Amino acid sequence: MPSMPSLSSKPAKPLTLACAAGAMVLLTGAKGLEPKDVADMLHAVMSADRTVYTKQVVNRLTLKEKVITASEHFEDNKALPLPAQMFRFGAELAAEQSKKFSYSLLSLWPVNKQNAPRTDAEKKGLEFVAANKGQNFYTEEKLGNQRYFTAVYADTAVAQACVTCHNDHKDSPRRDFKMNDVLGGVVIRIPITE
Ligand code: HEC
Repeated sequence: MPSMPSLSSKPAKPLTLACAAGAMVLLTGAKGLEPKDVADMLHAVMSADRTVYTKQVVNRLTLKEKVITASEHFEDNKALPLPAQMFRFGAELAAEQSKKFSYSLLSLWPVNKQNAPRTDAEKKGLEFVAANKGQNFYTEEKLGNQRYFTAVYADTAVAQACVTCHNDHKDSPRRDFKMNDVLGGVVIRIPITE
């Protein structure tokens, strides 16, 4: 395991090894690194990777270079996967690799039923970020015998393409989205001790 300088004078104690869409964050058991900090850092990586894929791959190749399309049915259409699909594939692989922490892109109005909230905390968090623009939601929940720190970050319609595709999609349960509306949220769950 690669080592990183500890953030405190104490000896480094590896706490979490997280791999999000090709980026690795090695976090040490340094004093002062709270679950909230870890969640915020993971979210920064996920969000940056998604933006880079959207801008440098999808938008460039579909809109600018016009050499390929992006489609939900990317295999049949020999197209690029949508950013939300790339995100879910990464999340599924990360969940296989680390049984500890997990993340997902969910919505109260999911195009893919798999992306609906499952726990009370997820539902509350999605409602909170939709109602309180610019604010994140942090809570704790117990699932089975494990306690978790759970964070929810708004996922906002930053481009007209988000609005159009989600309003027009045959499986979408909601069709009145506007620019800058919250379409859903990223949920990050980190195990904590009692
Ligand atoms: C071309 C159509 C299309 C575009 C453009 C698009 N999405 Fe989606 N989005 C989808 C599909 C299809 C899914 C379901 C993916 C899956 O299988 O998990 C999805 C999933 C999501 C989800 C998870 C909940 C759900 O609806 O299943 C969120 C949140 C989301 N998209 C937000 C956005 C945002 C924000 C943008 C713009 C930055 C955007 N989408 C652009 C089609 C699109």
